Amino acid sequence: MEENKKFYLTTPIYYPSDKLHIGHAYTTVAADAVIRYKKMRGYDTYFLTGTDEHGQKLQRRAEEVGQTPQEFIDHIVAGIKELWQLLNIEYDDFIRTTEPRHQKVAQALFQKIYDQGDIYKSEYTGWYCTPCETLFTERQLVDGKCPDCGRPVELTHEESYFFKMSKYADRWLQFIEKNPNFIQPASRKNEMINFVKQGLEDLCVSRTTFNWGIPVPFDEKHVIYVWFDALVNYISALGYGTENDSLYQKLWPADVHLMAKDIIRFHSIIWPIILMAADLPLPKKVLAHGWLMMSDGKMSKSKGNVVDPVILVERYGVDAIRYFLLREMGYGLDATYSEEALVNRINIDLANDYGNLLSRTTSMIEKFQGGIVKTPAEPTEFDAELIAMAQEVLPQFEAYMDKIDPANALATVWKLVNKANKYIDEAAPWALNKAGQTAKLQTVLYNLAEVIRQTTIMISPVMPNTAPKVWAQMGISDRAEKQNWESLVWGGFPVNTKIERGEPLFPRIDFDAFLKEQEEKAAAAAAAAAKAEAAAKAEAEFVPIAPEITIDDFAKLDFRVAKVISCEKVPKADKLLKMQVLVGKEERTIVSGIAMHYTAEEMVGKQLVLVANLKPAKLRGIESCGMILAASHGDKMAVLEVPAEINPGGRVK
Ligand code: MSP
Repeated sequence: MEENKKFYLTTPIYYPSDKLHIGHAYTTVAADAVIRYKKMRGYDTYFLTGTDEHGQKLQRRAEEVGQTPQEFIDHIVAGIKELWQLLNIEYDDFIRTTEPRHQKVAQALFQKIYDQGDIYKSEYTGWYCTPCETLFTERQLVDGKCPDCGRPVELTHEESYFFKMSKYADRWLQFIEKNPNFIQPASRKNEMINFVKQGLEDLCVSRTTFNWGIPVPFDEKHVIYVWFDALVNYISALGYGTENDSLYQKLWPADVHLMAKDIIRFHSIIWPIILMAADLPLPKKVLAHGWLMMSDGKMSKSKGNVVDPVILVERYGVDAIRYFLLREMGYGLDATYSEEALVNRINIDLANDYGNLLSRTTSMIEKFQGGIVKTPAEPTEFDAELIAMAQEVLPQFEAYMDKIDPANALATVWKLVNKANKYIDEAAPWALNKAGQTAKLQTVLYNLAEVIRQTTIMISPVMPNTAPKVWAQMGISDRAEKQNWESLVWGGFPVNTKIERGEPLFPRIDFDAFLKEQEEKAAAAAAAAAKAEAAAKAEAEFVPIAPEITIDDFAKLDFRVAKVISCEKVPKADKLLKMQVLVGKEERTIVSGIAMHYTAEEMVGKQLVLVANLKPAKLRGIESCGMILAASHGDKMAVLEVPAEINPGGRVK
């Protein structure tokens, strides 16, 4: 390796239209792990991330919540930065496309390409997908919807500037031929080649129907198309074209642009052609990983199936989440997220395999050797197998990380972890101890300590918080020279080190208990919500108390006990029952609106309270002589009943 070779890696700049989810976290965590790895390998690294803050989508989102776009965005960007801090992301720069340092460069580049005649004014008629910020021709739509995300598109017709992409199609194809590793994985490369071969159309690079964007420098009615604006971030962040362009000089071209497959077209076709037109070097590699899927499709805010990384980190810890994300998603492939898969990775890979290797080793060193790692004897054939595997794993791990394939890199380390666990079972140090085979015992325990040291160095870029805990337990916290990449030569563990056995690194998670707890929490929350809803409803239904009356007013009302002798439904009236009631000796007909709550049969024999001196009224042609009392609240109603010991005709006061 050349001394101080540079390595410049970028993530997409995310839209701050919502909180980011674990899909976004995947890309950024992968980038961070690769950067940490490259740093350990002596590279002069530079890691750029940021936010893509213009465009129709953001303008609309802000309008929806009654904020200016900048207010809306600032809030979300603050949350994104906090998320990266929580996930232990060590970026060198965070570019925001609303920053003047970016806007100047985007405008200058637009102007440069215009001046040389590669941008021209015309009219655009087509279909716009706002979530994807992409224009499509009628022909490109699938079932009238966006061919990329399947969502509805809007017809747009406007004056626009166009970028002469078509002019560069052949040059692009030649470039790809000469640089066969430019687009990774190869399957994506073939897709892109096919896309270009089908005929590259000029790209609409300005909009006039909204104004949340960078003004076209020579025509302020237009804003620069958000994707043109966004892609430029990879050089604007380095000060390209400004007086202070030392970073650009040092770092460009980028070594890798990392992203998911959804935006590979923008990075592998549009961006290189912009650079060709501007006569600038092209990035070395554009790499698209797959999507993190939910059981019901791609994770996306509009579907409402997103998983918040903040919650996962609180629940399981940052290193477990980083490990899970990187281990689960195979190179270029999609992966399906489930909390169960996450817990399985924690329980099996981290608690059982790696965590146990550490705790078994430290406990045996403590028990059999007073906590001291002792000098090993010459390896036997049996030991040699473990050592050989360690020596094989290292270059494989490096090759995978260099290729940006963390899943396979981690799988490779786990081969060694598992081998070491098997080595314990087979060597049976407890038996060696019992048999007094001290030299053999010392060798086995030394080899285990060395495997722990080597695997921990390899996984430290993925789990940066775990490594220091392991160094502490292995007694080499202050031995930095034993923790670096150069020390990955078998036999580096310092003998006579006193180890310090500690807590398990990754306690096992009882997933069933967790699920039960979640269910109980959900049930309690649902019960509380129902209670609150009932209270709110009661409040809303409470009829205000009527104005005050005097006792004389009240005395005018003559309430009597009335016994129902017979009852029937009033034909063609859903709500009415007709009753014959007995009041003293007198029989009366009463019509009452209670048929929704009582059947005619139920009413017979009941003793009710009747307003006996109410002026008779006709209901559906039947004269009702009085009114019975009923209590009601909301949609519930009950007639007032009087016990049988009071005879019909008795007074109610
Ligand atoms: N703003 C553009 C990018 C401009 S780069 C010059 C954009 N932003 S985005 O917020 O939609 O982010 C897309 C990127 O987020 C994907 O390319 C990928 O890196 C990451 N992911 C978003 N959802 C993801 C999954 N479900 N799975 C994996 N990666 C995901 O596009």
